Amino acid sequence: MTDLLSALRDAIGDEHVLTEEADISPYAADWRGAYRGTPLAVARPSSTNEVAAVVRLAHEAGVAIVPQGGNTGMCGGAIPSGDGSQIVLSLGRLRAIRSVDAAGGTITVEAGVVLAEVQTAAAAVDRLFPLSLGSEGSCTVGGNIATNAGGTAVLRYGMMRSLVLGLEVVLPDGRVWDGLRSLRKDNTGYDLTQLYIGAEGTLGIVTAAVLTLHPATPARATAWVALPSVAAAASLLPLLREYAAERLTTWELVARPALDLVVDAGLQDPLASDAEWFGLIELAGPFGASVDDDLERALGAAVEQGLVLDAAIAGSPAQRAGLWALRERVSEAQESLGPTIKHDVSVPITSLDELVADLGVSLADALPGIRPIIYGHVGDGNLHYNLSRPVDLDGADFVAHTDALSKIVHDATAALGGSISAEHGLGSGKAAAAAAYKSEVEVDLMRAVKDALDPAGLMNPGKVLS
Ligand code: FAD
Ligand code: MLT
Ligand code: ZN
Repeated sequence: MTDLLSALRDAIGDEHVLTEEADISPYAADWRGAYRGTPLAVARPSSTNEVAAVVRLAHEAGVAIVPQGGNTGMCGGAIPSGDGSQIVLSLGRLRAIRSVDAAGGTITVEAGVVLAEVQTAAAAVDRLFPLSLGSEGSCTVGGNIATNAGGTAVLRYGMMRSLVLGLEVVLPDGRVWDGLRSLRKDNTGYDLTQLYIGAEGTLGIVTAAVLTLHPATPARATAWVALPSVAAAASLLPLLREYAAERLTTWELVARPALDLVVDAGLQDPLASDAEWFGLIELAGPFGASVDDDLERALGAAVEQGLVLDAAIAGSPAQRAGLWALRERVSEAQESLGPTIKHDVSVPITSLDELVADLGVSLADALPGIRPIIYGHVGDGNLHYNLSRPVDLDGADFVAHTDALSKIVHDATAALGGSISAEHGLGSGKAAAAAAYKSEVEVDLMRAVKDALDPAGLMNPGKVLS
């Protein structure tokens, strides 16, 4: 190992190979402290060639690599094992925006560029990069690609995989695949770009990407609504689309206990409603688009049909930001209740009410006093069905119930034809669970891909496939 470390230092500079406890500790645990590992070292290369050198040297030494971007992931994908045998490769110094092509609608960026920086660069040329996550100030493009991130505009623009045209990838043996194409059409064989998207660093390291830019949407109309039920939230989707068509960008759900958390944390509740369910709607379009009228007409119809109980429409950018915060701050606010057992499930949208009703009963039976904090991307059929401890149960004792409680959530999801990871990926936390809900054929195919592309098994081992 001493030889490897000194070869790494020669390749990328002494100060960019970290081994001291104080230096490596920020890379050793996730932001929630739910996953913790012990890196052999942290390597911080600054270019594709340096990434390739690190990977080649690690490959020659038979040492595994764990890629890490902004370390905002939810399931431990960027955290190394606890045995001190794996190198964390941070992409944080690959920060260049290589080019912006407003006319062609593309931007080429390095993997360590923070998502918000891509959005800003797009806005500077009157374009939109539509991926939108609560973590956009810290997560990176490489992490977004590796997790196939979702977020709050999937309804309209799709997930990260529909926003990527080309990739540059360092392969597990250190060779570089230059797939940085900006073509909308390219049917020349297997789609390797799509294979690396959502692979969570298990097949190679993304060093750069060509991303799609969309027309800017400066006209926005945003509402916070109180709902009679989850079924109403699902029925609202076709109604909103009837009035707003493709301008419907966001349709998010927040349950009462989740709203109470952010209000307790200091946010203002715009509706004095005693409803149990709330939602955030946003319509967006070009200058002059009739989004305000469309939203008002849609809400009028929704109230008439009993799908919406009450609504507050943002009258200024500050009010809009206030409504968005009610949804985006839930994730962090829940940490105030102690450790969270997180779930990220999706079902056909018409089954959401059944899922919520079933789980309400079965989880309360399994652990009386348990506090579900439910919110998510209802327009995508995707709920974050998160659990907080009963008030009289210690955090560590609660976490000991994780497997049993998650099995209840995942079984109910699978029974409705759903997925146990809609947008966060599998990391180490959900790899085994996912395999249990897939057919043998599907797991075999996934293993065949992994074995073909990473025969030595040195790329983020234990993630995705346990
Ligand atoms: P990391 O956490 O560093 O890594 C995630 C995975 O990608 C790991 O497996 C890692 O090994 C791999 N990886 C990272 N970089 C590379 C690379 N260059 N090449 C290959 N593999 C790589 N996610 C959503 O999908 N939707 C949301 O709405 C959402 N909201 C969030 C809100 C908050 C407040 C927080 C904290 C997180 C949220 N997330 C959400 C989760 C997270 O932000 C995303 O998964 C994000 O895409 C991770 O990016 P990252 O750069 O932090 O990746
Ligand atoms: C969100 O939608 O807020 C995120 O995916 C984060 C979470 O699951 O808490
Ligand atoms: Zn989410």
